[in-house]
Amino acid sequence: MKLLAAAVAAALLAACAQPSPQPLASPGTAPAPQAAQARESDIDALMQRMTLQEKIGQLRLRSVDAGPDARKEVLLDEIRTGQVGAIFNTVTRPDIRVLQDAAMQSRLKIPLFFAYDVIHGHRTVFPIGLGLASSWDMDAIARSGRVSAIEANADGLNLTFSPMVDISRDPRWGRNSEGYGEDTYLTSRIGATLVKAYQGDDPSAPGTIMASVKHFAMYGAIEGARDYNTVDMSPQRMYQDYLPPYKAAIDAGAAGVMVALNAVNGVPATADKWLLQDLLRKQWGFKGITISDHGAILELLRHGVAADGRDAARLAIQAGTDLSMNDKVYGTDLEPLVKSGEVAIADIDRAVRDVLRVKYDLGLFRDAYRHVGRAADDPADNDAENRLHRADARDVARRSLVLLKNSASTLPLRKQGTIAVIGPLARSQRDVMGNWSAAGKARQAVSVYQGLAEATAGRATLRYAKGANVIDDARIVTYLNEFEKDVEVDSRTPRAMIDEAVQAARASDVVVAVVGESQGMAHEASSRTDIVIPDSQRALLRALKATGKPLVIVLMNGRPLALEWEDANADAMLETWYAGTEGGHAIADVLFGDYNPSGKLPMTFPRVVGQVPLYYNHLNTGRPFDPARPNKYTSRYFDHENGPLYPFGYGLSYTTFDLSGVTLSTAQLARGGKLTASVTVRNSGQRDGETVVQLYVQDPVASISRPVKELKGFSKIFLKAGESRVVSFEIGDAQMGFYDGQGRFNVEPGRFNVYLGLDSRDANVASFVLR
Ligand code: NOJ
Repeated sequence: MKLLAAAVAAALLAACAQPSPQPLASPGTAPAPQAAQARESDIDALMQRMTLQEKIGQLRLRSVDAGPDARKEVLLDEIRTGQVGAIFNTVTRPDIRVLQDAAMQSRLKIPLFFAYDVIHGHRTVFPIGLGLASSWDMDAIARSGRVSAIEANADGLNLTFSPMVDISRDPRWGRNSEGYGEDTYLTSRIGATLVKAYQGDDPSAPGTIMASVKHFAMYGAIEGARDYNTVDMSPQRMYQDYLPPYKAAIDAGAAGVMVALNAVNGVPATADKWLLQDLLRKQWGFKGITISDHGAILELLRHGVAADGRDAARLAIQAGTDLSMNDKVYGTDLEPLVKSGEVAIADIDRAVRDVLRVKYDLGLFRDAYRHVGRAADDPADNDAENRLHRADARDVARRSLVLLKNSASTLPLRKQGTIAVIGPLARSQRDVMGNWSAAGKARQAVSVYQGLAEATAGRATLRYAKGANVIDDARIVTYLNEFEKDVEVDSRTPRAMIDEAVQAARASDVVVAVVGESQGMAHEASSRTDIVIPDSQRALLRALKATGKPLVIVLMNGRPLALEWEDANADAMLETWYAGTEGGHAIADVLFGDYNPSGKLPMTFPRVVGQVPLYYNHLNTGRPFDPARPNKYTSRYFDHENGPLYPFGYGLSYTTFDLSGVTLSTAQLARGGKLTASVTVRNSGQRDGETVVQLYVQDPVASISRPVKELKGFSKIFLKAGESRVVSFEIGDAQMGFYDGQGRFNVEPGRFNVYLGLDSRDANVASFVLR
């Protein structure tokens, strides 16, 4: 077991500073001017030697899928004849070497680069995106990124399709699990942190990979949260809420951008010249590579903007989609398009240059085997234990867990007596890793049961029962199991399974029920119309509740769920998302109080699905609903309690924290100036612990309606029991301004409200005036 070398981590973490929300040019990983000039003239020289077909070959990113050897032979042949620029879905050095060998047999010996979905870990799997975001801990998130890069690069990989910074306000979307939640500022910080952690200062250095931020743009705003659906959005909302996280990742130096599958305002992103050239390159100064999403170029036909493959290839290349992910049409149609004059060679050259620059910056022209190394040094066992970073994974995972409820100090549990561990997810090693678990192996993951068993060995007795299937609906099981075995269905009747669980509960002092969604239920192509715990598991929970034993619900899921029943009936509830390889250990650490939970929700939890989209930074409307004085003609639902069940930023601890009022360094601020907002936080409970102090700002009167509050800063602090600390935030233009519909950043004078709190609902406020 390895712990990331502290010195390396410290140096890289220091680099992970806060991104600026201002529209600045990308510093990127741009080389010094002289080196950049040398790079460009080397690329010029190479391009002069390339045929049109060889240029087009560079624009093809091909997948290596498990399949018959004949298919691999075809691919190797394409590589040898210069028809492939890069590869994804290969994850071992021997496999990568064979492909690079083929590239070295091509006429110009242009090396391939190798990409993969390293989303929340590589061989060691960290918590899913929503879990990482729940930590609000940039050091921990950077550590997950560093470990991912080290492990991926040790397998010969060069580029990851991460971070995914799509803002989403709708829990029905399965891909919420991959992102960092609903908030622009938090997501921007995380995106920038991960880019720097993956790339370091030099993407050619060992232990680093290039980042490609996705999905550009606004994929998280698809209508009805139905995957791949359409986005239609006002320019204000686009600039203010949805675009900044991509910009933050690019400002942090992201080498790549993955283009979204969806259309925005009627234009599919893959064919959107405004998005890929005017905004991305001209306004934002992006100099890297754009990569289409899987098959997205041909999908332009079904979007209804291209008549045929040839049309689709033309639209995509002219819009600025450099690299085509697994579409055939760049290979078949770009050459005739250039020959007929429909596509300018300049469009091809621009894209080829972007691809070659990536390879140059990766050091592949100096040594095509730079990252893959010598065969003699290949690991004997790719999955060897000593290739994992378990200590890092456990530490990051426990920081990602959110305590939602804890009545009568049910938690932490004592390591004694008999504990019933019940539920279809309790012993699952596959689910605890979550989706997009890269090269992680389920058999190396620690289930919740295993974590609890190790923590209590020799001190307490565990009784296990599955209690229910994750879901009983055969149609849904078939859907979830189509491409991989996601849900194991027990052949016993629901009654028999519940009876067994109830028996185990009755014979125990406390029940820990591990329930929620299988990992495949919170994935790509996994949108749901409802967001409750499936009926089979609800029935189990009801039966467990009826035993009268203290009920601790451990949730495993990849989206906010509607948990009114669980909130009313559980004695304690812990949100664990999918916590990764070391999930079971981390969850045991929290359940037994060896770690005091400090996670905070990065997405609002609604009461019922009918409330969505429900998000904390909404506009006030002309008729805001006030729960203290509920009026009929206000913005509300009449058939259910309004407002969230758990607000954005919420999460409990085993200790309590008190907050003083907000102090401002001045009540009057001159234009261009800065002030300091401070609050004293006291750990008023019995245990040491961490919490997240959150800064929200409101511009109550502006030229356009502004949100009731917006997150503009946060600080995660550790306080010993009884300890107090003053926490301060600077407020300047970046915190006060906003983007208008033309993408201009404006700061308007007038009154501002400053909220400091431990979640987005309960915060103390002070005001100042900007002159
Ligand atoms: C499709 C997904 O939308 C994208 O996020 C992923 O990176 C690619 N497939 C490659 O696997």
